[in-house]
Amino acid sequence: MAFGSYQNEIYLNGLTGTMPRFPMTYAELEARAQNALSPSVWSYVAGGAGDERTQRANVSAFELWGLVPRMFVGATERDLSVELFGMRLPSPVLMAPVGVIGLCAQDGHGDLATVQAAARTGVPMIASTLSVDPMERVAKDLGNTPGFFQLYTPTDRELAESLVRRAEAAGFKGIVVTLDTWVTGWRPRDLATGNFPQLRGHCLANYTSDPVFRSLLQRAPEEDPQAAVRMWAQVFGNPLTWADLPWLRSLTHLPLIVKGICHPEDARPAKDGGVDGIYCSNHGGRQANGGLPALDVLPAVVDAADGLPVLFDSGIRSGADIVKAIALGATAVGIGRPYAYGLALGGTDGIVQVLRSLLAEADLLMAVDGYPTLGHLSREALQPVV
Ligand code: FNR
Repeated sequence: MAFGSYQNEIYLNGLTGTMPRFPMTYAELEARAQNALSPSVWSYVAGGAGDERTQRANVSAFELWGLVPRMFVGATERDLSVELFGMRLPSPVLMAPVGVIGLCAQDGHGDLATVQAAARTGVPMIASTLSVDPMERVAKDLGNTPGFFQLYTPTDRELAESLVRRAEAAGFKGIVVTLDTWVTGWRPRDLATGNFPQLRGHCLANYTSDPVFRSLLQRAPEEDPQAAVRMWAQVFGNPLTWADLPWLRSLTHLPLIVKGICHPEDARPAKDGGVDGIYCSNHGGRQANGGLPALDVLPAVVDAADGLPVLFDSGIRSGADIVKAIALGATAVGIGRPYAYGLALGGTDGIVQVLRSLLAEADLLMAVDGYPTLGHLSREALQPVV
């Protein structure tokens, strides 16, 4: 797909006085999203753990690498497509799971706006367990774009199994199990306002619609929402250990991807335990502060994964960042906060502009710098900026 042609579309529209509806820089996107969101949703999305040093480092880590231009390549046609779990995706980009994405939309149905943007762009959505609309409703709008379901593994194994069965039945093409969030990290912005959306009853539709979850309650969640919230808090976080991996693996024949892997010694046994993909991420710095930028740990994780696909997120803000993560060995990357901000400003259209801009920038960078395919992007294509 010629992602770069988006710029011609924008310039040609400019001839008739039609300008892009949403900001073209990340800084402006973020600033305008702040005004568009309620203060509590804004701090939940924009904030992170501790003094947010790791969150900032995730972003600045990309500045320490430079792509080396190559000439006489004539990269007139680029191929950004990628084979992932037996599927061919038009680009190596996915939308990372964002638990309150539902609340980021002005109409309160951001999960639906997101899946509709996925259908329009071919950029898969990884749908979070924490959603405003139940996964079956979200999956209805997948169109021809494969979707993934992200599982926060509950302590109740039957409930975990039920969520996975439902995701399979709804047509999701892979299960992403997030490992780094069985307990919530220390988040001063949210603590200052005593705000944790799920405890206020938000984004629990996958639980309240689940037969196993409902069977744990004495009264239906519609009749006693407070009791449902209390039960959710009781079952939410499962501190998994390696002993749980065979059980997790046994839950599904779909590709199983483990998210939050940042150490090669965690990637190796995950591979040996039969996972299909490693997802290197530090949750955008929302969970643990004082750590390394996720980009810094990516190469070692890729080496340990030894050929298994490695997804990566945390800090991607531009097309150049996508290209650098791929050059450092990621098979595909997840976009997080940027699409949430696009959604806040313009629903599905806002997300589509954000994704198309990221892809166009990546594509044009590969054109200008002479890297026609993702296969040409290796570690040798990068040099440290001194
Ligand atoms: C997240 N993330 C996340 N991850 C996950 O596995 N399940 C989830 O429900 C959520 N929820 C969530 C909410 C919000 C508001 C944010 C910003 C992030 C983490 C997400 O998938 C991804 O790892 C980060 O967003 C990547 O960091 P950046 O690039 O957004 O800074």
